[in-house]
Parts: sequence; C-alpha cells; structure tokens
Amino acid sequence: MPPQKIIIDTDPGIDDSMAIFFALNSPELEVIGLTAVFGNVHVDLAVTNALRLLEIAGRTDIPVAEGAANPLAGTYTNPPTFIHGDDGQGNIHLPPPTTTAITQTAAEFIVEQIMSAPGEITLVPIGPLTNIALALRLEPRIAQNVKQVVLMGGNALVPGNATPAAEANIHDDPEAADVVFGADWSVTMVGLDVTTKASMTEQHLQRYAQSSSPMAQHIARINPLYHDFSKRVNGVSGLLVHDSTAIAYLLMPDAFTVKQWPIRVETQGFSRGKTWPYLRPNPNAVAWHNRSAVNVCTGIDSARTIELELNRVAPP
Ligand code: RIB
Ligand code: CA
Repeated sequence: MPPQKIIIDTDPGIDDSMAIFFALNSPELEVIGLTAVFGNVHVDLAVTNALRLLEIAGRTDIPVAEGAANPLAGTYTNPPTFIHGDDGQGNIHLPPPTTTAITQTAAEFIVEQIMSAPGEITLVPIGPLTNIALALRLEPRIAQNVKQVVLMGGNALVPGNATPAAEANIHDDPEAADVVFGADWSVTMVGLDVTTKASMTEQHLQRYAQSSSPMAQHIARINPLYHDFSKRVNGVSGLLVHDSTAIAYLLMPDAFTVKQWPIRVETQGFSRGKTWPYLRPNPNAVAWHNRSAVNVCTGIDSARTIELELNRVAPP
C-alpha cells in the first residue's frame, strides 16, 4: 500500500514536535507539508519551529506554509509560555532555521494540495482549527475532495483543559471549530476523552534521552518544561502526548473505540469552546439537526499507541 499523504496543521509546541517526528518516522505516512497556526506560540514562531523541526529531522524537502495569526473572531494574545516555553520548544532557544516558508498561505497550500489530488490527502490539525476553516472558506469543494480529517481537539464526555468546559485547541477558535465539525466531510475527533489517557511515564521519557536519534535527543531536551507543568497540574509524574495520539489513530485505528455523534461547538459565555456531542435523538435539539456525524474517539489502548511512538522515534 502506498503511504497515506498527510498535511499536519500545527502550532509547535512540545507535543506537536513529538507528533511531527512520530509521523516523519512512520513509513505508512507521507508528510507532504506542515502548515503553521497561532496557538502554543504566535504564528511567526510556529513557522520558525516547524522549519527547525524539519531541519533536525533532515527533511527540509517538506514545505512549510504560514497560516493564521488570529482566530476567526478577535485577536490572539496569550500563548501558554508556561507550558511550552517562550520559544515553544521548552526554552532551549535553538539557532534560527536555515530555510524559509513558502509564499503560499496555509489555506492556499491546503486547497491546492487537496484539489490536485482528489481523495488522497488527509488533514491532521493539531492546533486551533482556523487554517482549516479558512481553507474551507477559500474552496468549499475541499470537503468533497479531501480523504479525511483527523484532528486533535475537543472533549466530548470529559472536562476541558483550557477551562473546565473547553479543550485548548477548540477554545482558541470555537467559531472555526464549529465550521470544521459542521462541514460535510469525514472528521475524526481525537480529543481529551482519549489523550488524557495517553500518558508517557518518566521511564518512557528516558528512552528519548537514551536514543542516539537526533529527533529523540531533541524531544529529550524540550520535554522537561512540559513535564514539570504536567506534574504541577496533574499532581503525578507523566506527560500527556495529546498531538501524537492523532498520529497514532492514523497508524493504529484498531487501538481506539469510536462513536458517531454530530458535534456542535459552544461559541458563547463561560462554556465557550465546549464540544457538545448529540448523544441521542432529540426533536428539540435543532442546533444539531442536519449535521454530519463525527467519529469521536472515546477509548484507547494507550500502552500500544505509546509503545509504537517510542519504537518509531526513540529506537535504541
Ligand atoms: O489540548 C491539547 C492541545 O493544546 C495540543 O494540541 C497541545 O499542543 C495544546 O496546546
Ligand atoms: Ca498542538
């Protein structure tokens, strides 16, 4: 089987970096581009980090396109530097990249790639969904021409992490997320329902430090800040590999339990960014009517997915 072509839409970010390396080390996948979006860092730094990661991986042949600096509504102001660092890479402050982004915007790149290879491209958004909503706005026919969308974001049956209600990627742009969940295409939501069960222990993380791979060494350098944050917030050692879990789904869908529910995203008030599943038929729930079902991941065999990631990125 030829590898599955994917575009990773990303705000790197420590767990984004882990996910990108996981994908680049998986022969079942062909990463045809990285598109950058604001989120863990401002978008200019997201571009810089994407370029740096590709250099570390020896894959500067892969294009990087710059995307949205702000959500569809409003201005983005507060990157979570306390989780990912001022540089989005655990405060290790790498030298500037030697390559540059392409001149197309992220939305233009996504549209061009999907429309020139109908049915072949999988979108893998692991940041706020702004670029994907903008691509749909630019060319609505991408919905019929994409292979599928597999995204990290949302929380169906569990609490949020950005607020008690909402997961961070969706909270950063709820309007865009509601567009993406509402489009008529195949969307799989790899959200907190499963990613909060995908935790790498101290022992797992040591495997990055012990590996001679430059990608593993980079992960070993950047993850202490994120790990300290996880320990403070969760009170236990262990690092949640949110974004890598979307890559694991592409490689190992049988490790997941999946339910089909239409999703609406709350855009108002203190629950802004909450992804609400339509759990059972209800004639009064008109906001969910005529929405396509989303594949919502609700269960995971995380021992398998984490072992796969470590075997791919941190071989002995
Ligand atoms: O909620 C987890 C998501 O938000 C991940 O994409 C991570 O990178 C974070 O910022
Ligand atoms: Ca991310």
